[in-house]
Amino acid sequence: MTYAIGVNDQKGLQTIYWGQRLEGPSTLVSAKAYPEAASFDPSVSATPLEYAGWGGGLPTQPALKISFPDGNRSLLLDYLDSKQTDGPNGDQLEITLRDRLAEVYVHLFYKVYATGILARWSQIENRTKGVITVEQAASATLNLPPSTSYELSSLTGRWGAEWQLHTVPLVPGHSVLESRRGSTSHQSNPWLAIGRTGETTETSGPVWFGELGWSGSWQIDVEQTYSHRVKITGGYNTFDFSYPLAPGQLLKTPIFYVGYTNKGHGEASRILHRFQQKQILPGAPTPKPRPIIYNSWEATEFNVNEAGQLALAEKAASLGVERMVIDDGWFGQRVTDHAGLGDWYVNQTKFPHGLKPVIDRVHQLGMDFGIWVEPEMINPDSDLYRKHPEWAMSFPGRPRTEARNQLVLNLARDDVKQYLLTFLDKLVSENDIAFLKWDYNRNWSEPGWDAVPLPEQKEIYVRYINNLYEVLAELRKRHPKLEIESCSGGGGRVDLGILRYTDEVWPSDNTDALDRLSIQDGFSQAYTPGVMVAWVTDVPNFLDRRNIPLEFRFTVAMTGALGIGSDVTKWTPDESALATRLVAFYKTVRSTVQQGALYRLIAPEASEQSAVEYVAEDRHQAVLFGFLHSQHYGEPFQTIRLQGLEPAALYRVKPLDPSKAPGLPQQITGSELMGPGISLHLIGDYDSTAIVFEKVDHK
Ligand code: GLA
Repeated sequence: MTYAIGVNDQKGLQTIYWGQRLEGPSTLVSAKAYPEAASFDPSVSATPLEYAGWGGGLPTQPALKISFPDGNRSLLLDYLDSKQTDGPNGDQLEITLRDRLAEVYVHLFYKVYATGILARWSQIENRTKGVITVEQAASATLNLPPSTSYELSSLTGRWGAEWQLHTVPLVPGHSVLESRRGSTSHQSNPWLAIGRTGETTETSGPVWFGELGWSGSWQIDVEQTYSHRVKITGGYNTFDFSYPLAPGQLLKTPIFYVGYTNKGHGEASRILHRFQQKQILPGAPTPKPRPIIYNSWEATEFNVNEAGQLALAEKAASLGVERMVIDDGWFGQRVTDHAGLGDWYVNQTKFPHGLKPVIDRVHQLGMDFGIWVEPEMINPDSDLYRKHPEWAMSFPGRPRTEARNQLVLNLARDDVKQYLLTFLDKLVSENDIAFLKWDYNRNWSEPGWDAVPLPEQKEIYVRYINNLYEVLAELRKRHPKLEIESCSGGGGRVDLGILRYTDEVWPSDNTDALDRLSIQDGFSQAYTPGVMVAWVTDVPNFLDRRNIPLEFRFTVAMTGALGIGSDVTKWTPDESALATRLVAFYKTVRSTVQQGALYRLIAPEASEQSAVEYVAEDRHQAVLFGFLHSQHYGEPFQTIRLQGLEPAALYRVKPLDPSKAPGLPQQITGSELMGPGISLHLIGDYDSTAIVFEKVDHK
């Protein structure tokens, strides 16, 4: 893409162009402040500023609002200077703005990645002699040219139903995507895509997209002005926000990652996926493929113990599973969700010999070992709470609202941060633990922090999250082989902030394979399938009592990072044989699924049929998954036209089940797969299959 900015005649830093990459000499006009549209629309609101302070009569969303100690709240940010640094990971530009009168500086950062992403963030610096209060701080504002046909796509949901994709036309006014909950949230994910109605589809048309790297309360304000200009302002949530800056202090905002394509929503997702793989995830540019996990949460819930976990581990290993994870229930007095959070010692009744015998056996079985933790939480019924009731977040003298019988520890406190780091470090040092499933099962309710002076109490919104990142970073530094999953009662904490420290995420507690098709489709709009953990679980499903055949459950889970959560000790020999075959199949396509390019060929919401395809980065392999949810009138499966292959290359066809891909030749060219396409023979309810295509001359 091309992103062009300039300094106008009023010293304002202004967007000139954001869109399709421009080639050759540019005739773009230079920046020029727009005149006031009327006495009701001053120049500052008409001009597409890159980062507007609230001042000069700005009636639209400001990027920054500050209150000075004398009560003055006007801020006029003029361009001061800029410097560019080029690095191996991208070129970075720092532009400094300064208030026209006061020594308040704003440093705007622009970092350009080869994957096509622009990262923008800012730093607000107080060089005055008094304490100023930041009341709103965005990472960036992005401006789109006037149009009356923009449409906004966003992802919303709730527990058990995350990642629902909505596309609505933009009209003058504000569309606010946000979380005020202290964390990323199930309800709204900090991702957006803007297309043009009638023009943008999955495979074509303009898409401006972005996502915020922040795991706390966040906000993306999409404002269509009354002259149909669109302004996207993203960063800290402005609700209840206040951050005092003493002389010399800085406030850094989260990073807003944005991009553009004219190839539709599919390509927008692929750009984001590639960026996450190459730049964001631990181990980038070559993050480790996700191992196949076994986890008994759905099968046993809190009822974990040595004998039970060992029996499950033996069976899981025989199926080809690579990692055994003990979920909630192994610690403290944890028999239900009423007690134990905070007491991270092994429950002696359930594991009388500690974790060692289980871990040793898991290793003998050729798997590595992982364990569940929920470090930021505390049950009032816990030793930790009895010792440190003041560590739970609250407003003194007001009731504390419990959720799932637990309270949130105030991780903004340094003693809480130290406690987290100490117990986690001990747990991982004393046991051979390869993986933590890091859970977070409620939102904030009373975000009080009375241990610090009043003006600083609201810093909790920023300091909590920065401490969380520091704990994760330090833990990984001390244990370089440790891998971590971000889970929050399902997909409540998935964002580009946490993904810098976590290798995978749990998209939803909803494991019903039909629901999962939509959940995973929505997830893939914003995040790579390489982090999308998907378990095969038992039927009838715990959530909706639906009975879906095992093969379909597997095929759905194989489109992400496959895991198993069934009570595998109860599987029949036939089920075990099928599972073993499918696990082995998955291993042959895992890197293509997790690290390749995803093409959403037929969306699950559109009909009773759906299909996704993954193409390896070097295009030597592609894998197609087809799903028939429910058949009507005996209708045959629609023709599937693949995408992203080399047209002239010859591909060897390897169907998972040849009877479901009748008439397919043994070899076929990319152009035939993409042009005439192929048909699948799927019938009835919940039928599915997969086909692998391998380039014949691949070395
Ligand atoms: C959350 C997670 C589940 C499981 C439970 C344990 O709901 O999303 O996978 O770990 O907590 O209490």
